[in-house]
Amino acid sequence: MLKKIMLVVTVAVLLAAVANLIAQDENNEPASPQTQRQRGVMGRGDRGMRRGPGRFAPGGADASLIVSSPMPKTEQEKKILDVLDDMDKNQRRGMMNVPVEDGRLLRLLTETVGAKHVIEIGTSNGYSGIWFCLALRKTGGKLTTYEIDARRASLARENFKRAGVDKMVTLVEGDAHETVKKLKEPIDVVFIDADKEGYPDYLNKLLPLVRPGGLILAHNINMMRGGRGSGIQDYVNAVTTNPDLETVFYLQGGGVSVTLKKR
Ligand SMILES: C[S@@+](CC[C@H](N)C(=O)[O-])C[C@H]1O[C@@H](n2cnc3c(N)ncnc32)[C@H](O)[C@@H]1O
Repeated sequence: MLKKIMLVVTVAVLLAAVANLIAQDENNEPASPQTQRQRGVMGRGDRGMRRGPGRFAPGGADASLIVSSPMPKTEQEKKILDVLDDMDKNQRRGMMNVPVEDGRLLRLLTETVGAKHVIEIGTSNGYSGIWFCLALRKTGGKLTTYEIDARRASLARENFKRAGVDKMVTLVEGDAHETVKKLKEPIDVVFIDADKEGYPDYLNKLLPLVRPGGLILAHNINMMRGGRGSGIQDYVNAVTTNPDLETVFYLQGGGVSVTLKKR
């Protein structure tokens, strides 16, 4: 008799667990990796640029992103995306490039504000710079980018050339804390992605040149979470306590802060 009761209780518990799982799924709570793949969500670990809609991360580990992929509108755009794809696959080591999704965000913001002049601090091999150029082709703008490391600067020049965007880029070699002092022209978008301790200094030097309605973007804001980079902490304080500025944080990947200089 006792065995029968135990069996009935076990079956009831199992049925309740299954019903609970089904209810969770219907309420948009975490589903199985297979179900996530069927819905078109992907994990944070997904890297690389895959063309075409509806591609999914292997394993679907973390259902935090809905996938979309760059769809080239013209042959020239395809050529640039192919170079970015190649750099993503073959040049990342030691280059500290932004993740693909952050590159796409930079392009989108730049094109949206119709930027004519973008300043980038930290060129590396030109990966994020080329994402900016995708937008600048359309806005008729130009990129001025700063790099202290001669080897990376030289690689960036090669990459700008093979992407066919070299004519819209000025690469300034040297310590950007010094070289940006020569800037006089108005800026539409600033992207800070170099020495983390230097973020507040770059902000102080460049903010006066940013036009009202322009954007100041900074990368690796997530470093703050790990307690590293007090420069980033000071930077975040500066852009969140100034009433002339409005800042939001896009904290996927390395983390990008997006600051509007109010009109
Ligand atoms: C994170 S990487 C930039 C990655 C690049 N934005 C991309 O996504 O392709 C930072 C770069 O800043 C450069 N850098 C560091 N300190 C610098 C300084 N004081 N002036 C100019 N460049 C600097 C480094 O040499 C490095 O190449």
